Amino acid sequence: MTLATEPHATAPLPHWEEAPADLSAAIREIKPALRARIEASGRTVEEVFAAVEQRIEARIREIEDDREQGEEVWPVLDYDAIAGGTVTPSQMAKLKKRGCLVVRGHFPREQALAWDADIVDYVERNKFFENYRGPGDDFFGSVGSKPEIYPIYWSHAQMQARQSDRMATVQSFLNSFWKHTSDDGTQWFDPDRDAMYPDRIRRRPPGANSSGLGTHCDPGTLDLWMTQEYQKAFRHLFDGTAEQYDPWDAAHRTTGPQYPGSTMCSAFRTFQGWTALSDMDADQGVLHTVPIPEIMAYLLLRPLLPDVPEDSMCGVRTNQVFPVTKRWHPTLYRVLTPIPDVKAGDSVRWHCDMIHSVAPVENQKGWGNVMYIPAAPWCARNERYAAQVREAFVTGSSPSDFPAEHYERTWTDRFTIDDLNETGRRGLDLG
Ligand SMILES: [Fe+2]
Repeated sequence: MTLATEPHATAPLPHWEEAPADLSAAIREIKPALRARIEASGRTVEEVFAAVEQRIEARIREIEDDREQGEEVWPVLDYDAIAGGTVTPSQMAKLKKRGCLVVRGHFPREQALAWDADIVDYVERNKFFENYRGPGDDFFGSVGSKPEIYPIYWSHAQMQARQSDRMATVQSFLNSFWKHTSDDGTQWFDPDRDAMYPDRIRRRPPGANSSGLGTHCDPGTLDLWMTQEYQKAFRHLFDGTAEQYDPWDAAHRTTGPQYPGSTMCSAFRTFQGWTALSDMDADQGVLHTVPIPEIMAYLLLRPLLPDVPEDSMCGVRTNQVFPVTKRWHPTLYRVLTPIPDVKAGDSVRWHCDMIHSVAPVENQKGWGNVMYIPAAPWCARNERYAAQVREAFVTGSSPSDFPAEHYERTWTDRFTIDDLNETGRRGLDLG
């Protein structure tokens, strides 16, 4: 007697709460299990993927149409409209569809330029360039003996921006696009409390040549298919109901583990982002995105198609960023879109799942300076990481997500515990 397919529908997926020792073996195990679960819905993997492809293709066409009509693909909002609650419904809809945003005048221009000068002061006073030991990782290219990425976390400029009301206002606004509380009342994150994820600074000087950064995304690697919480977060992709997948649903995204790696982000970020500390033109080696927030549907199902080797997830491994490549995802390159020109004080934000890259540049015109500050709302995962952040803050260490360079431990004029305001104290869980 042949068993009906129903048992597959409830068969648990194999899962690995720590990175599997044998990645290829784990991939060979998870792929047939995912296919079986999808096919238990009565549709083939090819049918489900075709539906996803159609959904993505519709988004691609809309972006191409905007571009042809000379419309800005990236949504752009004035900070004052966000703070004053005057963003229009159509602007809100565009932001939700594109998953990214430029905030004009997030900070006054003079404030941003003063912060940039403060950072220079801070690193020069502490003889950073004399003591610079070279890049702590190879994630970003470096130019000459002076770094492009400063592994600096605790300057007054960065901390002032992180704990400012203007930052909190934008973070709450962006967090509100997410469904942070499930219908059963489970709250996955607090949209009005940020965990102050500390990140670095980029200062790329005039005349710089940079090879940029290839297309990738940052929310995880093989864990996106292999841990129980991500399997729940992406449940609609893995059970044949991909049409119901909502990239703005935070359920199960803020609780699970993440496979370690030199480029990992321990925190859950609703949006990645940075604030410009110099003016930057769109053709000077800037950030690009594929402005489609539901792209995980495409990226997570693509490896299940039969043309991908059985021990491959389209090149995704642990301990390196999730690569997006012309080999496996050529159609997405049609809409890889640069940010518009930005001015010092503007901020750039993009949904944490979105594909992005940094374009190469030769003989850069002007500076290319940014402070990386995401929206990382308070949740179980960020609370765990906050304990390590607090320790790093107090001792002036590099946070544990980053190379253990610790330049600032002996520096004078770090931002201290006495400089924290209420937002800063809440972010670091200091009561
Ligand atoms: Fe990235």
